[in-house]
Amino acid sequence: QDSLYNEKNRPQFHFTSRRGWINDPNGMIFYEGEYHLFYQHNPYEREWENMSWGHAVSTDMNHWKELPVALSPDKLGTMFSGSTVIDYNNTAGFNKGNIPAMVALYTADNPDREIQCVAYSLDKGRTWTKYDKNPVIDSKDKWKSKDTRDPRVFWYKPGNHWVMVLNERDGHSIYNSKNLKDWTYESHVTGFWECPDLFELPVDGDKNKTKWVMYGASNTYMIGSFDGKTFTPESGKHYNVTGTIYAAQTFTNMPESDPRRIQIGWGKVQQPGMPFNNMMLMPTELTLHTTKNGIRMFSMPVKETTQLFERVHQWPSLTPAEANQKLKEFYNSDRFRVKATIKLSYATSAGFNLFGQRVVDYDMNFNLINGVFYSPDAITSMELDVDIYVDRTSIEVFVDNGAYSYSMERRPRSDNKEGLHFWGNEVEVKNLGIYSVKSIWK
Ligand code: FRU
Repeated sequence: QDSLYNEKNRPQFHFTSRRGWINDPNGMIFYEGEYHLFYQHNPYEREWENMSWGHAVSTDMNHWKELPVALSPDKLGTMFSGSTVIDYNNTAGFNKGNIPAMVALYTADNPDREIQCVAYSLDKGRTWTKYDKNPVIDSKDKWKSKDTRDPRVFWYKPGNHWVMVLNERDGHSIYNSKNLKDWTYESHVTGFWECPDLFELPVDGDKNKTKWVMYGASNTYMIGSFDGKTFTPESGKHYNVTGTIYAAQTFTNMPESDPRRIQIGWGKVQQPGMPFNNMMLMPTELTLHTTKNGIRMFSMPVKETTQLFERVHQWPSLTPAEANQKLKEFYNSDRFRVKATIKLSYATSAGFNLFGQRVVDYDMNFNLINGVFYSPDAITSMELDVDIYVDRTSIEVFVDNGAYSYSMERRPRSDNKEGLHFWGNEVEVKNLGIYSVKSIWK
């Protein structure tokens, strides 16, 4: 397998398929020691077409083993996004002896409509059987819209039933079911588009104080409460991640001993000249924190990723000119991580460039990072923490322990000779660390 993944522009610490197109993560679930990542996939070409569910498994969310395609197009349509659950109580009747079925809820897309369908697997997602009475939901006529897709299903313990969140026309609907086959419409929240997610998270790590998060494909979210049938927003829409990310999903069925909410997003990054296209972004843990603006969701790379990075230098306090001098030896690295605290003193703006590409462009006066509004909690200290992950074709930046993060294509300007470059007047670069990165393909 090794030699298959060694192309010149293959991302070195992000999942990519061996070949073909990928977009949304689908059916993300942890089961019997394996993380399953299914994904929107065209196995044949580099472009979006022939939507199927690709499949990869991992034990650490870093190293992935690609398996055969899980779901292929059929007479009902092509395989659009969806989710998986483990049916421990055999509510759908698909289980075999003591083997619980892994059940997928997905959208079949055809020229006329988008309908919700069921399939199940009794061998840990390796082979799938489609339910012979598909579809289980067909709601186009009700909404007078073809946009009915991307079922996200989970078990709602207090009510002893399944919940589905479904993108319908202009927002996300809630459905209930006892058996994964018969679904009842309950409610609708407008203002979201595609790939819903809905989950409960502790606030400030306190398990007795939780909130529900309703999530859309562009990483906008609302915080609120949920009673199994209706999501009641207690906030407007916020975002915590921007850039090339889209259609992120979180792992379900995490063990009770490790209830983390872990997300993987699609990185919309073209991979020119490669047999594959697009990528997944780093797995991140989502947490809720009380900030000066209210409760907000943070996103930070999961602790498992630390095994990929090794710190090779750390300097406590440098001027930008000194920092740039130190970073010269890394100009030609195809992958690295830079971590620093930028202290602004008298300056109103500061940042970090990579061969002319503005990786961090912080304007303290207008509260903007790379053009997006960001008002740090610790504004009085005039410090900004940046953790920058550079791969061959992409860059991910985590600001202030994940209060805000963003991703971009790595597109250095070939005419620019300045290399890795901190900038800003009267700026101090504190705790500058530089890390080497292990490839996940070796
Ligand atoms: C989001 C999306 C989904 C759909 C899938 C099709 O990127 O448009 O709504 O299910 O992609 O590939």
